Amino acid sequence: MKQAVPLAEGIYWVGAVDYDVRVFHGHHFHTPRGTTYNAYLVTGEKTALVDSVHKPFAHELVERVAGVVPWARLDYIIVNHLEPDHSGALPVAVQQAPQAQLVCSEKCAEGLQRYYGIGNVHVVGTGDSVDLGGLTLQFLEARMLHWPDSMFTYVPERKVLLPNDAFGQHFASSARFDDEVDLVAVLDEASKYYANILNPVGSLVTKKLAEVQQLGLEIETIGPSHGIIWRRHTAEIVEAYARWAQGVAEPRVIVAYDTMWGSTERMARAIVEGVAAEGVEARPYRLPVSDRTAALRDAIESAALVVGTATINRRMLPTIAPFLDDLAGLRPKKTIGFAFGSHGWNGGGMPQVEAALKEAGVELIREGLTTVFWPAEDDLAACVEAGRDLARRVRGQA
Ligand code: FEO
Repeated sequence: MKQAVPLAEGIYWVGAVDYDVRVFHGHHFHTPRGTTYNAYLVTGEKTALVDSVHKPFAHELVERVAGVVPWARLDYIIVNHLEPDHSGALPVAVQQAPQAQLVCSEKCAEGLQRYYGIGNVHVVGTGDSVDLGGLTLQFLEARMLHWPDSMFTYVPERKVLLPNDAFGQHFASSARFDDEVDLVAVLDEASKYYANILNPVGSLVTKKLAEVQQLGLEIETIGPSHGIIWRRHTAEIVEAYARWAQGVAEPRVIVAYDTMWGSTERMARAIVEGVAAEGVEARPYRLPVSDRTAALRDAIESAALVVGTATINRRMLPTIAPFLDDLAGLRPKKTIGFAFGSHGWNGGGMPQVEAALKEAGVELIREGLTTVFWPAEDDLAACVEAGRDLARRVRGQA
């Protein structure tokens, strides 16, 4: 029997751990450490389930809840967010507890109808609450963090915030809490999560954090919908969000590239050497063999980004295009850089990269570097010098 895990008096984790998932959101988000789908049970005199799990794990949710309270005694099901990793098991939950009142935001109600044909929900907004008798659920709309329907649920008597995707991380573990795991690894996943999901709405994150402060919500525990529950390092993850939302650029250079016969790779390595020679960290990512989610996070967080490609059929390599496309959607801030690449009989790839970098908002500080067939010594020297120049500018900004 799968067990619930208490996180405060009357509040339990009743989710599921997905140790094996390696790609998320279709295939674009890499999850090398797996993930979890966290749902919570809040029990006063009445009982509420907050969120559900990804559909294939519905049986785990059913067992964990039943270990605390019979489904027939559930009074409410709160849906903080519609996305199927949290609502996929909702039809099962509704089947188990047809008497339970569904509670969600207005936008979420629209989505529940479209996804599952579920109606008859109680719509709430910021300032609304549900009295469970002994414990209260207070609601705070969190539009665009990260969907229009997103909502936070707060239990004031226990100082517990259940903000769904916010503060989450794709991190699978048998442990549930931040003081039971490697914090460096959890923060690494939290930063990848922020950059790849929330970066485009950084200004809304800043506003929401200010609103939470203004409302005077005391928060001891944050139970996100993915990964580890924050109870010892709660202030640290909130501060990290404030920092990430400001878009403070880390003083490092990301070198993202792909190569066909090694020429573009030689250029990439020469650029890395130049950057390092100036005492600035360079992180090379050969994209088809790298964690693209980490590469995107680093591209967004860092002061400089250079992207290189070989040319095929007069175009950039097909391993580069989706990275640049994602980058444009994630809206990096204050990034400088340039393009580079080699080609054989015909060029075309490198200028495409330049155009895509511009579209993503990267400020190009020089014309792209090109070599034909195999980089000669003076080509490599130019790459080293370009790396040095970029690193000096990064240092100057720091
Ligand atoms: Fe974890 Fe937006 O779903």
